[in-house]
Amino acid sequence: MAAEVLDALKPTPGGRYADGTVGGAGHAAGILNASSPTGWLYGCDRDGAAVEAARARLAAFAGRFEIRQGNFAEMAAWIPAASCNGVLLDLGVSSPQLDSPERGFSFQHDGPLDMRMDTRQLLKAADLVNGARADELAKIFWEYGGERESRRLAKAIVRDRARRKFETTRQLAELIEKISPRDGKKTHPATKVFQALRIAVNDEIGSLKLGLEAVMKILNPGGRLAIITFHSLEDRVVKEFGRERTRGYSITGDVDVPELRQPRAPELKWVTRRAIKPGEAELRKNPRSQSAQLRVLEKLNG
Ligand SMILES: C[S@@+](CC[C@H](N)C(=O)[O-])C[C@H]1O[C@@H](n2cnc3c(N)ncnc32)[C@H](O)[C@@H]1O
Repeated sequence: MAAEVLDALKPTPGGRYADGTVGGAGHAAGILNASSPTGWLYGCDRDGAAVEAARARLAAFAGRFEIRQGNFAEMAAWIPAASCNGVLLDLGVSSPQLDSPERGFSFQHDGPLDMRMDTRQLLKAADLVNGARADELAKIFWEYGGERESRRLAKAIVRDRARRKFETTRQLAELIEKISPRDGKKTHPATKVFQALRIAVNDEIGSLKLGLEAVMKILNPGGRLAIITFHSLEDRVVKEFGRERTRGYSITGDVDVPELRQPRAPELKWVTRRAIKPGEAELRKNPRSQSAQLRVLEKLNG
């Protein structure tokens, strides 16, 4: 959604931008190009390989960017407060991560059961699969994957691991296929479990919540946040954050009782009321963009 992101952030010369998920730097290059010759970009990614790839891809813009390896949840620790005219978060995994068997993200290739975006992190998918209790695994599969067979699959994993450890993506995918066969369905039966494990290993929802707070600190009044989500769980967090920060009152307690509302100035406004989805041409070129949704918020003065 390159054009849609540029349309949302409207980069201009002299502007400062942050890309919290710089990945292969496709969007970052677009932002630097559109803000030539003086726009500046702060970038980060949890993945060291992505950071190297991004620096190489952006060589033509040398002197106009700073890219660090790290979680976007920590952006406000090194990006100056209220300095950015636009921030992009393009969530999820990248194609190089999915396509590298040794990263262990995909059931399409055989590789170690790893799934860490930041390979300096200790916890790997194998630690969860071999170490978590059945009820913990079921919770992960259900809450982060929406997997209906969560309990059955979790129990089968615990049974199976008593005789051999799970070490590879193929071992896990084959067990899942045995328990819930494909039965002519288009999606592989391991899809949801793999997504759920990835979200858990990388604490993606926790990082997203902290990342949104960090964005509030580094955005300038009038600055925009463009955020691309890939599944309903992420999108729900973004929608809830937007709802909460765009309303002109705060709620005391967990329930919204109109009489108990406290007036306060909204911090953000929606730039587009509805999520923007990829167009036909993009879907044809990149089928992985199928579930992408872009939402755009603007920071208000105040
Ligand atoms: C969809 S890709 C981004 C692609 C990128 N926008 C481009 O133009 O090539 C998502 C990237 O976000 C990174 N990522 C995911 N969660 C992150 C987080 N909490 N902090 C930093 N990077 C994160 C992943 O490592 C991955 O490289």
